[in-house]
Amino acid sequence: MKTAAPTRQVMKTEMNEYEPHIIVTEDGDDFAAASARIFCEAARPLKNPLVILPTGNTPLGMYRCLARDYRNENFWNNFTYVALDEYIGLEDGDPRLFGSWVQRELLDFVAVARDRRITFKSNPHDKGAECARMENFLTENGPADLAVLGLGVNGHIGFNEPGSAFDSRTRVVNLAPETITANSKYWGGEEHVPRTAFTMGLGTLAQARRTVMLVSGMHKADILEKTLTAPISEDIPSTYLRTIPNVTIISDRSAAP
Ligand code: F6R
Repeated sequence: MKTAAPTRQVMKTEMNEYEPHIIVTEDGDDFAAASARIFCEAARPLKNPLVILPTGNTPLGMYRCLARDYRNENFWNNFTYVALDEYIGLEDGDPRLFGSWVQRELLDFVAVARDRRITFKSNPHDKGAECARMENFLTENGPADLAVLGLGVNGHIGFNEPGSAFDSRTRVVNLAPETITANSKYWGGEEHVPRTAFTMGLGTLAQARRTVMLVSGMHKADILEKTLTAPISEDIPSTYLRTIPNVTIISDRSAAP
């Protein structure tokens, strides 16, 4: 008889458990405005903010609010953007590139300098070297002051899919079937979603000084609840947020526990 593969529940004795700070907003504009305000409060006191940013639908309202209402903040002059993840195999100029998605939604409006936009090359000669380049950037210039994250319906963070080790580093991953389905909404069908990606590892992200995760929509309510209450386990990568300090979760009413 086939037995199920054992799941790796991370023992509580291996780590401290922290409680993320949770902010619940109304849906829509209120969620975007609160996220932008908290983002600015975090960035303003910093001389050279080094910030990891995600793509996806959830942060779009915040990006638009930042581009509209906060474009003249001084911190943008010394702001460095580091990409959280990227599809593999896309040519320069492809609209699906995550790096260019953040640039056209936010960075072009707030005029972040080109040499301060640190993105993955989607099509590098050597994928291992590309991962090392991004890790080295953070080692030499980091840790990141702030990691802004979204939450996948399967609990993924970046593209750290279920089963990703909490000490994982930047690497190449296969997208989970539910991620391919979720991403198909961005690009009009699963056939347009690349199957592999680069992602910063959970161990890499855990080094950020502060983490803000944005969660919106009823379809995220169940996984947000699990993130906060299920046993801490690599089966639900987002539970790593309870193993690090300085985590804020901004949730709209629809996703809130
Ligand atoms: C995107 C990323 C993903 C998304 C997550 C939620 O760069 O890293 O982890 O944050 O899949 O996506 P949305 O916001 O589209 O629901």
